[in-house]
Amino acid sequence: MSGKITINGQIIDFTDEKNILAVARKVGIDIPTLCYHPELTIAGACRLCVVEIERMGVQASCSTAPTDGMVVYTNSEKVNRVRKMVLELLLANHDRECTTCDSSGACKLQKYANDYGIKRLRYPNRTTMAPLDTSSLSIVRDPNKCILCGLCVRVCKEKQGIGVWDFKNRGSRTDIVAAMDQPLSESACINCGQCIAVCPTGALTSNSSSIQEIWAAIRDPKKTVVCQIAPAPRA
Ligand code: SF4
Ligand code: FES
Repeated sequence: MSGKITINGQIIDFTDEKNILAVARKVGIDIPTLCYHPELTIAGACRLCVVEIERMGVQASCSTAPTDGMVVYTNSEKVNRVRKMVLELLLANHDRECTTCDSSGACKLQKYANDYGIKRLRYPNRTTMAPLDTSSLSIVRDPNKCILCGLCVRVCKEKQGIGVWDFKNRGSRTDIVAAMDQPLSESACINCGQCIAVCPTGALTSNSSSIQEIWAAIRDPKKTVVCQIAPAPRA
């Protein structure tokens, strides 16, 4: 399908772009995202990528296809209000010890909170601290910093074909777990680091194991899958 859409007053041709987000990014219009990666299936989970569409209201730009004649605003007052609310809700459920976080400076949640001028939260802090999974040679998982974007689940399943990570429970009890809720070291993880590369926060970081230890684990004959792709870039 092809046609033209107007974004912030600019008329843009689209051809095979699957979503408004891709059309906007094609011409350098920035829309914040936390759960989107162009090479993975679309989850539409975080709602940070919302835009305002005439006659459709506020919609997620990653999961809305462009149609001919569509008029879109990426930076309206309503859009910014929704994005701030999304960020505040995520931060209310997030360990905010940024000064000691390995991902400080590279965390997308931290960046967007700064970009949108979040100084204090209107919502109560709902963080209950859970233990870290440090069992793996290469990956540390801190559930207190997970925003449930699902990128780790999708990259492991769709790119590596392994599926170490998965969702557990529903609603407010939703969590991400490895290997049927076992320590990561008990899973089929091959230490490729794809999940760390796509994680937008400090929920997945590399541990301090030596590269020799990691390669020994990768060469473990019990783990038959090999790394298939180079690390995916951050979305
Ligand atoms: Fe997203 Fe990271 Fe949580 Fe996985 S661990 S769901 S990539 S925030
Ligand atoms: Fe669109 Fe998360 S990036 S909903």
